[in-house]
Amino acid sequence: MAYAAFRSIGAYVPEKILTNDDLAKMVDTTDEWITKRTGIKERRISKKEETTSDMGTAAAKKAIERSGLDISEIDMLICATISPDYFCMPSTATIISNKLGLANVTSFDISAACTGFVYILSIAKAFIESGMKKNVLIVGAEKLSAITDYTDRGTCILFGDGAGAAIISATENKEEAIIDIHTGADGTFSDLLMTPNGGSGSIHDALDQEGAGCFMQMKGNETFKVAVRTLTKDVVEILEDNNIESSAIKHFIPHQANLRIIKAVGDALKMKDEQVVLTVAKYGNTSGASIPMAINDIYEQGKLKKGELMLLDAFGGGLTWGSALVPFSPLK
Ligand code: ACO
Repeated sequence: MAYAAFRSIGAYVPEKILTNDDLAKMVDTTDEWITKRTGIKERRISKKEETTSDMGTAAAKKAIERSGLDISEIDMLICATISPDYFCMPSTATIISNKLGLANVTSFDISAACTGFVYILSIAKAFIESGMKKNVLIVGAEKLSAITDYTDRGTCILFGDGAGAAIISATENKEEAIIDIHTGADGTFSDLLMTPNGGSGSIHDALDQEGAGCFMQMKGNETFKVAVRTLTKDVVEILEDNNIESSAIKHFIPHQANLRIIKAVGDALKMKDEQVVLTVAKYGNTSGASIPMAINDIYEQGKLKKGELMLLDAFGGGLTWGSALVPFSPLK
């Protein structure tokens, strides 16, 4: 049987920094409020002409280079994004595929908001274990600044731009395989986090320019409570199902939405500070890109070593959630 191994990681971070003080000049907020309620100090914003696929391509190039594979060996590309280059078609994955020079490679997007990376990891694992694909490039890329309402202080303080990518490959060695992935969704909470305009569910005429503005709206406080409850339950379950103690986790890499959510889940799991990977202060919430950007951060700092066990944990609009137990298994 083929198993799926997490071979490499890459990320792209836009240069421009938007600080809390910058936001305080745009909406009625303060650095103190944002820091206390979210842990975010700054976030990255891409250039006007820079697209989600540009960022995803840059992250993918790094992941491919670090994987030790030749680009011709990649046989599938999946992109998780809620801020695609184009809302209906072509998919951002096919644009990235073209920019990378991949020929005749299955490419598609999925929409699972901040859980997107865990979802594409599970899809890659399933395709590899079934024997249908061998080397899957997964990309989480977001230009959330394009769908953020910078007059809404409840959301604009949270989000940033960036991309992360990984190569998942077939292996016969169970020791280096992804151990388990849990994913779930509950549409009864779909109104907590929405981009209500621009789609066929919109109350506006789709051709009406005003209605086509596709900004995120969020019931932050309710989302917060459901996030803590769901994430804690999900990670406890995946650890119990696999008979793994939280102390065996080298790197707990949660979705970087809010420091208070991360701390609440980390405390429930009795995680020590050195186990918890935090990038929320410098990148804010980058949705589907947040987990691979965080993995890349510890990789580039030399903290992620071969064989070390990662616990990924995400929660987002839909509502969706997911967790994964993933050893880092580079070829080189
Ligand atoms: N600056 C100052 N005051 C603010 C701001 C701001 N930026 N935003 C809201 N407030 C005010 C509110 O108006 C409210 O004032 P009131 O008491 O006079 O009515 C007060 O602060 C408290 O508002 P709450 O919304 O209750 O604040 P809360 O502590 O819940 O923090 C936050 C808000 C940061 C949004 C938090 O709820 C949160 O992080 N929620 C979860 C976000 C999340 O995890 N999303 C999931 C993933 S995102 C995705 O999938 C794309």
